[in-house]
Amino acid sequence: MTVGLALALLFSALLSGLVYYASDLRGREDEKKQTRPNFIIILADDIGWGDLGINLPRTTSHTPNLDLMAQQGMRLLDFHSPASTCSPSRAAILTGRHGLRTGVTHNFGVGSVGGLPLNESTLAEVLHGAGYYTAAVGFDYYLGIPYSNDMGCTDSPGYDLPSCPPCDPDIPVDRGKRGCYSSVALPLFENLSIIAQPVDLWTLAEMYTKTAVSLLHRSRQTGQPFLLYVALSHMHVPLSPGLQTEGEAQDVYHATLREMDGVVGAIKNASDEVGKENTLIWFTGDNGPWNQKCQFAGNVGPFLGRWQTERGGGSAKTTTWEGGHRVPTVAYWPGKIAANTTSKALLSGLDIFRTVLSLAKVEAPSNRRYDGIDATDVLLRGSEAGRKSVLHPNSGAAGQFGDLQAVRLGQYKAFYITGAAEACGGGAGQPELHDPPLIFDLSRDEGEGSPLDPDTSEYQSALEQIQQEREAVMKDIAADRVSRADYSVDPSAAPCCNPDHPTCRCHGRGSRSAGRVLQNDG
Ligand SMILES: *[C@@H]1O[C@H](CO)[C@@H](O)[C@H](O)[C@H]1NC(C)=O
Ligand SMILES: *[C@@H]1O[C@H](CO)[C@@H](O)[C@H](O)[C@H]1NC(C)=O
Ligand SMILES: *[C@@H]1O[C@H](CO)[C@@H](O)[C@H](O)[C@H]1NC(C)=O
Ligand SMILES: *[C@@H]1O[C@H](CO)[C@@H](O)[C@H](O)[C@H]1NC(C)=O
Repeated sequence: MTVGLALALLFSALLSGLVYYASDLRGREDEKKQTRPNFIIILADDIGWGDLGINLPRTTSHTPNLDLMAQQGMRLLDFHSPASTCSPSRAAILTGRHGLRTGVTHNFGVGSVGGLPLNESTLAEVLHGAGYYTAAVGFDYYLGIPYSNDMGCTDSPGYDLPSCPPCDPDIPVDRGKRGCYSSVALPLFENLSIIAQPVDLWTLAEMYTKTAVSLLHRSRQTGQPFLLYVALSHMHVPLSPGLQTEGEAQDVYHATLREMDGVVGAIKNASDEVGKENTLIWFTGDNGPWNQKCQFAGNVGPFLGRWQTERGGGSAKTTTWEGGHRVPTVAYWPGKIAANTTSKALLSGLDIFRTVLSLAKVEAPSNRRYDGIDATDVLLRGSEAGRKSVLHPNSGAAGQFGDLQAVRLGQYKAFYITGAAEACGGGAGQPELHDPPLIFDLSRDEGEGSPLDPDTSEYQSALEQIQQEREAVMKDIAADRVSRADYSVDPSAAPCCNPDHPTCRCHGRGSRSAGRVLQNDG
């Protein structure tokens, strides 16, 4: 395997799947073993703030397990994904740094040869340095698909718009024509081996659950602290809810939501059994719903981004409107996090890195700067003192990828640039620069409908503080060690277990011995 492909795979684990870091504490003191907490981070894909049943109490809930977890833990109401698309959000969660620092400002794809720059340090690597795990390329164990579940054909495609045909080499369909990826079948990896290609989307949730639960049971046997990162393919299209849950929901989206909730519930139940007093479970999302997918997209709740939707286009995934990055978030740690509580503290996925390290009593590398805060007091001591600000990177709807042109400070949110995502049925508003910026008061206008009048003193004083804050962050980034990601693409680097087959199908699907990765000559 080439370095390029290894990098792509390393990053792929951040995109989707399930990663487990066992510790290797052989010969280390027992006391550390007892005091060091375990961490389970569960990340849903493209989920809406309003998809969490308990966030919208007057509607039917499709998330009974998450609702219960919230009643036994803390719901974070003002929690934001670090970006409004997949790769930059996940890279920021795992490094505690904005895309402008890590270089990961937009999504990687099927043939990407690069990934998160290797000299960026992930949460896993830092915990590794403190004895939490041993790994050659970053992971002790990995199960998952290497990118989004729509980036390859399968034999039994799920629900999608447009709907994609099954893998069939005689019907070459490229993404350009139909919005479907079909040149390479969607692979399922275990560690660095392909164990099935194409994957069976309809049983993927079951595999995630079985694997996570068995890793938890294994940890009970070894007594070693762990970080379990469960990056679900749910709620990204194509949706492929297991048939047993379908009957209980009105439609495919909600059946899938129920399935996702069941995965979370099974992991929580297994964790409770293994040792709930020593395990933090942190559930959140990578970005908001994909509007363009119509009935297959999630619910933004009250965060409608009305200023934008009134001008055409969607205001969720890829945009910096609240629907793009305000994500449903629950933190659960019986005995440590007070039960049935909510917090309005302003927080971001960027804060997971420093908070987890602080709880593990591990130092982050000091030769770079971070965008996260240590939110331990919010989680464990009910403090409402969250972040001073959140800067939202442009994520595709407008402007240069990664630029921090939407600024949240206290109750105010300023847009120096606005842009819409493609809405259901097409139509996206034009990107617009705003000088002076649009400023909304989220405490009165969470739907971002009516900006403040620039002639008011309220606007002027908010603007002054926002500008100062943005300049301070930009200055900090300019003085930092900033990495650059390799976004080059080489189609021959696509994961392929049988290069002689037109769509790279593995003979003997599900058979471990059949999997291998195509060598990339680059
Ligand atoms: C993946 O790694 C785990 C842990 O090292 C190992 O038990 C398992 O057999 C590996 N799976 C494959 C397919 O190599
Ligand atoms: C988890 O346990 C709760 C409480 O015992 C139960 O209601 C729920 O059905 C379980 N969830 C799963 C997915 O097993
Ligand atoms: C949780 O809090 C809500 C609102 O304060 C209350 O209505 C509910 O009864 C509480 N639930 C439990 C299980 O304590
Ligand atoms: C990573 O390496 C690049 C190239 O040498 C450098 O510019 C960058 O500052 C490094 N990043 C970190 C976080 O050290």
